[in-house]
Amino acid sequence: MLNTEFRKAIDEECKAAISVKGLINKREVRLLFIAAAILTAQGEILEIGSFKGRSTLILAKGARWAAQNKIVACDPFPPPTNPNDPAVRPSYEVFLETLERNGISENVEIHRKFSAELAKDWNRPIRLLWIDGDHSYPGVKADVDGFFPHLVPGAIVALHDIGRSRLPGPTTCFMEDVLMSDGFGMCGMCHYTGWAQFIGSGGLKKYRLEKGKAYRFLAARKLQQVLGTKMRPLRRWRYKRFRRSGSFEKWVFSVYKDLVPSPKNL
Ligand SMILES: C[S@@+](CC[C@H](N)C(=O)[O-])C[C@H]1O[C@@H](n2cnc3c(N)ncnc32)[C@H](O)[C@@H]1O
Repeated sequence: MLNTEFRKAIDEECKAAISVKGLINKREVRLLFIAAAILTAQGEILEIGSFKGRSTLILAKGARWAAQNKIVACDPFPPPTNPNDPAVRPSYEVFLETLERNGISENVEIHRKFSAELAKDWNRPIRLLWIDGDHSYPGVKADVDGFFPHLVPGAIVALHDIGRSRLPGPTTCFMEDVLMSDGFGMCGMCHYTGWAQFIGSGGLKKYRLEKGKAYRFLAARKLQQVLGTKMRPLRRWRYKRFRRSGSFEKWVFSVYKDLVPSPKNL
């Protein structure tokens, strides 16, 4: 059972994060908060792609509930494409302001660089990996190859923009490197976020059916996007249902019920 304080924190922190300009929706914010707050394994929380700090904020707030002081954020924070436009503020400036305003400046280790550079020297275990940086196939694949070897059994991976036609990189990597790998167990979708639990190299076959189902949905979606056809109403309805299907919350709270955080962690 969720204690009242934690339930209240989920609602309040998610509301605060949604007020920051960003590219993930309410349900995805909730998923990140809970994934950071429940210690399914020991290791770092690594975010690739921070932008103005929406996901950074929610991960850092969630991490506090797991008594984890710092999360790692990696983004080159490029300057605005039109630096002469005074209305456009650099994302780095807004990002720092988000951290400051929400009292988490001390809780975020910032790496202002491309993830490939960070991966070169990275040698820390990872318990939560959030990939929302370079969305090209080579970009996501480099993140997968660079950071998956550091996942500890029990770790959660979450990739954003799964099933989006303009951004095929995350979908392809999620399908091939996560769903087709026995190293991953439980998986699901939450809006445009695909998530899965890393279970280690001697992975179990029992999750193949679940992952196979997800693979089939995404393959059908990809094919339909490539062919430029419309989904038939029934298929569209099934696909929408699939995007809401593997409830992370339901799964994590049932498997890790003993780890549901309480205010004494704070
Ligand atoms: C979609 S936005 C991230 C949105 C953010 N997660 C949120 O919650 O709103 C993508 C970000 O990834 C960054 N990015 C692009 N390529 C990257 C790379 N190779 N490594 C790290 N970050 C990258 C961009 O600078 C941009 O800020």
